[in-house]
Amino acid sequence: MSNNKKTILILHGPNLNLLGTREPDIYGSDTLSDINNALEQKAKTHNTTLSINQFNHEGDIVDCIQSHAATSHGIIINPAAFTHTSVAIRDTLAAIDIPTVEVHLSNIYQRESFRHTSHIAPVCIGQISGFGLHSYLLALDALISHLN
Ligand code: DQA
Repeated sequence: MSNNKKTILILHGPNLNLLGTREPDIYGSDTLSDINNALEQKAKTHNTTLSINQFNHEGDIVDCIQSHAATSHGIIINPAAFTHTSVAIRDTLAAIDIPTVEVHLSNIYQRESFRHTSHIAPVCIGQISGFGLHSYLLALDALISHLN
C-alpha cells in the first residue's frame, strides 16, 4: 500500500567509497555498490524507498541530513571516522529527531581505543557493529520494524 511506504536515508561516511580495496582484512571485499545493491534488494521486499549517499566531507553529511529531514522516516548512517570526532553530525541528528541506526562494518570495540567512543550513538536508537555488509542489512530490518 503506497500510503505505508517508508523512505529511509542511507549515509556512508568518508573512505567508504574505497571499500573492496580498502584494508580488506578489516572491511572485507564487498564494495560500496555490493552493499547498496543488497540494501535495495531488501528495501524492495519491505515497501521501502532508499536515498543512498556517500560523502567524504563532514559538512556534506550535515547538509544531506538537513535536506532529507522533511522526507525521511528513518536514517541508517555509517559515519566512518566522523563517528569518533563529529559533534556537528551528532547535533544535526539530535536537531531533526528522526529514528537513526549507526552502522559499522568492523567491530569498533575490538580495534584501537580511539574507535571505542562514538559521538553519534547517543542520538541513535541503536548501533550495529562488526558484521560487514550484514551490519547494514540488520540495521535496515531493525529500523523498519521500529518504524512499524
Ligand atoms: C567504520 C569504523 C571506523 O572506525 C572507521 O573510521 C571507518 C569505518 C566501519 O564501518 O567499521 O572508516 O565506520
